Amino acid sequence: MDTRVLPYTDEGIAEAARLILAGEPVAVPTETVYGLAADATNAEGVARIYEAKGRPSFNPLIVHVPDVEAAERIGEFSEGARALAHEHWPGPLTLVVPLRPDAGIASIVTAGLTTIALRVPAHPAMQALLRATKRPLAAPSANASGSISPTRAEHVLRSLGGRIPLILDGGATQRGIESTIVAATVGPLRLLRRGPIEVQAQPASGASIEAPGQLASHYAPSKPLRLDALEATDGEYLIGFGFIAGDVSLSPSGDLVEAAARLFDLLHQADAAPQPRIAVAPVPDEGLGAAINDRLRRAAADRD
Ligand code: TXA
Ligand code: MG
Repeated sequence: MDTRVLPYTDEGIAEAARLILAGEPVAVPTETVYGLAADATNAEGVARIYEAKGRPSFNPLIVHVPDVEAAERIGEFSEGARALAHEHWPGPLTLVVPLRPDAGIASIVTAGLTTIALRVPAHPAMQALLRATKRPLAAPSANASGSISPTRAEHVLRSLGGRIPLILDGGATQRGIESTIVAATVGPLRLLRRGPIEVQAQPASGASIEAPGQLASHYAPSKPLRLDALEATDGEYLIGFGFIAGDVSLSPSGDLVEAAARLFDLLHQADAAPQPRIAVAPVPDEGLGAAINDRLRRAAADRD
């Protein structure tokens, strides 16, 4: 793939919007670091973020929206969350809040969680792209997995050149570190990631007690899950792939982008099925398949 670098002009924004609406990820500057943005309502577009980054696992992603009103259409804001939003948005603060189920956000964005990370960015390029696409944009930092976050278009080109169609060049980013993340789900506000904004919130230490309603780090189905299943045994709901049809299929044609895009929806579907157990057909451990298998292995191991 040829990676173009366009200056952030009306023309550049129009081309970036066209690609995003066609399901392609595009690198765009924010005030913190460059993000790799895709339409958060398009699961395959978001799967291509993971494909481009070569990320071996799924993490919930931050969704960027143009203003507080757009954020409140996607998430449920407590008074504390709303106060922080009005104080710091647009700006380098991300709020994790309960996701509205009817918001239209693809399940791969939140990696199956019922909470969502939302941010109103201040950078005019990202703002222009949000307004041009009229879509919420999921965007992790625009670097290959394992390398440092990019603060210039050249960094993105070095890391993801040949893997994404377009980089919007807005010069060096102002802050250079990722946004502060605060969880406003239940109980007091909790600081999940330090960043440019100082917030009064409890540090969310790993030592804190797991309590109902505490933020789960990742979604796993509640039933036992068997991997590499060639067929369903008694009491199993089979998630197929490729030539193994199953009760449902991640991708009948064996397409890993499609499989990643459907993974969390099908895990939820399997969890809600009458069968007491889940089985999943083998998925090749290459490219996006590695991230899919990572999540399936954790889901299988999480139960004891
Ligand atoms: O400055 C930034 O925040 C940049 C720019 C591009 O906006 N974005 C960024 O995104 O750093 P990312 O995907 O690299 O970081 C997302 C972080 C992860 O650590 C993830 O675990 C956390 O946000 N996160 C996202 N959704 C979450 C959720 N529902 N619950 C808990 N943590 C969540
Ligand atoms: Mg990152």
